[in-house]
Amino acid sequence: MMKLFVALFVVAITVVAGQQASLEIQPRSRPIRKEVGDNLVLTCRPSVPKPDLISNLEWQDKNGRRIENVHRNSPVYIQNLPGEKGIMLVFTGLTEQQAGIYNCHASYANTEQLSASVEVSTFVDVQFVDAPENQFPVVGTNYKVKCKVKGEPYPIIDWYKGDTLLEENSKKYIRQIDGLQISNVTEADDGTYKCSAVVPSTGVYKTRNIKVEVQVPPFILPMKEIQVVEGDSASAKCTATGKPPPTYQWIKLDRRNDLSKTDRFDVKKLTGELIMNRVEYGDDGMYKCVAENTAGHVETEVRINVLVKPQIYELLNATSPVANETRLLCKTKGRPPPKVTFRKLSNRQAYIEGPQLDDNRIRLEQETFDDAGETFGTLTISNLNRSDDGLYECIAENSVGKAYKNGHITVWFKPTFNRTRDLPPVYSWDGRPGNLSCLPEAIPNATIVWRWNEIEIGEENFRNGRVSRNNFEVIGRSPQSFLIVKPYNQPSYYTHYECIASNGLGQASIKIQLRQGLAPGMIGQVRANTVTATTIKFSLVPPSNYDNLPIRTYTVQYKPERQPSWDNSVSHTWSNGAPYIVENLIPEVTYHFRFVARNDVGIGTWTNGPTITMPRRSVPAEPRILLPSSINLTDKQELPGPYSDHFEIRWNVPADNGEPIEFYLIRYCKIERNGNEDRDIDCSENIQQSIKYTNYPLDRLMPNTLYKVELRAHNAIGDSTPATIRFRTARGIGPVPLDSNPQMSSAMIIGIVVASVIIILIVVDLTCFLVNRTGLIAMCCERTKRKKKDEEDPKLGSEEKEPLNQPVEKSISVEFDGRQVYTKSGEIIGKHSAV
Ligand SMILES: *[C@@H]1O[C@H](CO)[C@@H](O)[C@H](O)[C@H]1NC(C)=O
Ligand SMILES: *[C@@H]1O[C@H](CO)[C@@H](O)[C@H](O)[C@H]1NC(C)=O
Ligand SMILES: *[C@@H]1O[C@H](CO)[C@@H](O)[C@H](O)[C@H]1NC(C)=O
Ligand SMILES: *[C@@H]1O[C@H](CO)[C@@H](O)[C@H](O)[C@H]1NC(C)=O
Ligand SMILES: *[C@@H]1O[C@H](CO)[C@@H](O)[C@H](O)[C@H]1NC(C)=O
Ligand SMILES: *[C@@H]1O[C@H](CO)[C@@H](O)[C@H](O)[C@H]1NC(C)=O
Ligand SMILES: *[C@@H]1O[C@H](CO)[C@@H](O)[C@H](O)[C@H]1NC(C)=O
Ligand SMILES: *[C@@H]1O[C@H](CO)[C@@H](O)[C@H](O)[C@H]1NC(C)=O
Repeated sequence: MMKLFVALFVVAITVVAGQQASLEIQPRSRPIRKEVGDNLVLTCRPSVPKPDLISNLEWQDKNGRRIENVHRNSPVYIQNLPGEKGIMLVFTGLTEQQAGIYNCHASYANTEQLSASVEVSTFVDVQFVDAPENQFPVVGTNYKVKCKVKGEPYPIIDWYKGDTLLEENSKKYIRQIDGLQISNVTEADDGTYKCSAVVPSTGVYKTRNIKVEVQVPPFILPMKEIQVVEGDSASAKCTATGKPPPTYQWIKLDRRNDLSKTDRFDVKKLTGELIMNRVEYGDDGMYKCVAENTAGHVETEVRINVLVKPQIYELLNATSPVANETRLLCKTKGRPPPKVTFRKLSNRQAYIEGPQLDDNRIRLEQETFDDAGETFGTLTISNLNRSDDGLYECIAENSVGKAYKNGHITVWFKPTFNRTRDLPPVYSWDGRPGNLSCLPEAIPNATIVWRWNEIEIGEENFRNGRVSRNNFEVIGRSPQSFLIVKPYNQPSYYTHYECIASNGLGQASIKIQLRQGLAPGMIGQVRANTVTATTIKFSLVPPSNYDNLPIRTYTVQYKPERQPSWDNSVSHTWSNGAPYIVENLIPEVTYHFRFVARNDVGIGTWTNGPTITMPRRSVPAEPRILLPSSINLTDKQELPGPYSDHFEIRWNVPADNGEPIEFYLIRYCKIERNGNEDRDIDCSENIQQSIKYTNYPLDRLMPNTLYKVELRAHNAIGDSTPATIRFRTARGIGPVPLDSNPQMSSAMIIGIVVASVIIILIVVDLTCFLVNRTGLIAMCCERTKRKKKDEEDPKLGSEEKEPLNQPVEKSISVEFDGRQVYTKSGEIIGKHSAV
């Protein structure tokens, strides 16, 4: 009964004081929303009239357990308010688990239980947890563009590429919780992607731009085998595609070393080039190129072949006797192994493999050793001939070069005198020794022995007295020998001597005669061939049965009949074979002639020649027209003229027959040919040409026309018979001007001036000579006169006179004297001298 009363009392008081006794939690907002990780302080204060009556003030967690922790470094702890009644609940770094309803309890005046509660709710803000701004997928793979978002409540995620919203789900793009999966990435997937997160309940909207760069793993373009040449520099290039551009590495497979670390090699990391300096034989082999970028790594192998220029390392000379067999072996190396051939140095063509088509004695073979890179070429010549002797060139060739080397084939043969079979006799006279020479052909060199009457001329027979040391001397034994014989006029030494040459292969001999040199005998026959008023041309027949030293000269002596003795006679000497012409004779005088021949021994016996009375003075002899040496003309034939509009005739000065020639007369006609008959038309006047000239240019001729020219020499007595020539001008288009460039060059002008000055000087000198007997010519004349008082004017036979101003024609020309044509060489024709 009492208890009920007390209860009613408390209720009455509570109701009375109801307005005052409570607990108040701050902050006041309900619920309290806080982001995960934030700090939070909940403060609970009593709101009572007498705070001193408050006791047991406490916080309870969401499970109704009292929170007792007071350590400041705990995630949650309590703390009393300083200075007043109240208790704080401190969260350091809220977690989601800590969300819930928290109660604050207290007792008031020991009777009243006070309580208040507050709800703490947490949330998580939108955050890009794993969404790098640059991402690099590899082409061909499936790639997830990462965009991991955190948020509570969880946001709605959308994807954009550029500004385009990507479809919810397509084959290409699949949204996943932590990113956007791109299947089968291609380079087209490059771009800026946007990952956007929206939380409608909170209105949060966040975006993240992600730059996607597709990477392509390297791909090495196919490489072929590489050929490099030993000793040269070379480079190999490895090219790879890829994004980003790959870097390169070169590795030699057998040594597994990175070539950028070796000294002869240089690797361009960025371009893939491999530079090989001074390539070595051992660089041959397999190499690996490695290309690498962030997307991948590939490698490929390539073969580098080191080619080696051919080299001939052995070629020995060969020696073999004639008719035997020999071979030249040419050892070569190179990579690829060279092809070997030979060439005789005197031939242009190299030998073909196998037997030669034109000479099957010669065979070329080659043997190749691939492993060693060697080729042996063999040139075999069977049944050797002397003509095979000589230098042979071995030629080794492969794709990178050629090499050459010479080898010699020596062909031995026994001595032979085949080239010097009929040796002329050797002469000895006046105590001169005979010099007998013996030179056999032989390889190897022959040694020589001389025999006289079957007795060997040598030391042994000198000693035993069979041959006399006084009479013989042998100079040299090999390869040439001279036998000097001193006969001292003993006939037994004028005989045949035998030269015997021998070498290992055989011997050969030759006989050489030593004869006594004698002066020539009488001249066989003398005839006067051509007689003019002042000249005679003789023909001489050598002494009969003449068989001795060659005749060097013939000499003639002549005197007028009335002169009794030969003592003061005039003589003239010709070399053997010259035209035997005497000139400057006096007309109508009778002369005696005698002749003698001379050889190296001396002169022979004089032979009397004919007695000749010179004819009277008469008209000159017929001039002889000169023709080009290459042309033979019969009487009626025509000479082809070299030009269509001009022609030059040239002639030899004829004999004047006692009266000086005054001038030449030239007349030319066109000839009309009527069947076999020729008719002269359009004849010119007789043209005079000064005796200073022995030529005359005809010009303004018609092309392709037959002309006849008559040439006469004139002296006080009259005209000679005419020399005639027919020529036909060349075909042509009218007269061609001789000098197409009339402007004279300065050199020509200077030449003309110099020539004029010289001519003037000569004329002045000539005048001085004629008038006063002074001047250069006078001096020269004086000197020659004094020296050769008895000599005649060293003039050539007048018939043989060279054209004065045609020195070019001197060497060989064909002369035409109207009857016959013969060649004449410009040798010394004759010389007057006293005997
Ligand atoms: C990926 O794309 C390339 C080029 O578009 C295509 O050739 C290939 O077949 C695709 N691969 C797959 C697995 O789809
Ligand atoms: C070649 O010469 C050798 C020795 O020099 C000899 O033995 C051989 O018989 C000769 N052969 C011929 C074909 O003459
Ligand atoms: C052999 O040599 C001679 C001269 O030494 C020559 O005339 C002849 O033609 C040569 N024979 C061959 C087959 O070469
Ligand atoms: C081979 O002969 C040539 C010419 O006769 C000579 O120059 C050369 O030195 C010789 N070679 C050898 C290896 O004897
Ligand atoms: C020399 O000539 C004769 C015949 O003319 C010949 O038989 C001989 O073989 C020749 N000798 C040499 C070494 O050539
Ligand atoms: C013999 O003649 C040769 C040339 O033909 C010459 O070299 C040599 O000196 C001469 N000997 C004598 C002793 O006259
Ligand atoms: C042969 O004679 C020549 C000329 O004298 C000489 O040059 C050569 O060396 C000689 N050969 C030999 C093998 O003696
Ligand atoms: C010219 O004739 C001579 C003798 O009749 C003859 O020996 C010569 O070969 C000939 N010359 C020409 C070029 O016909």
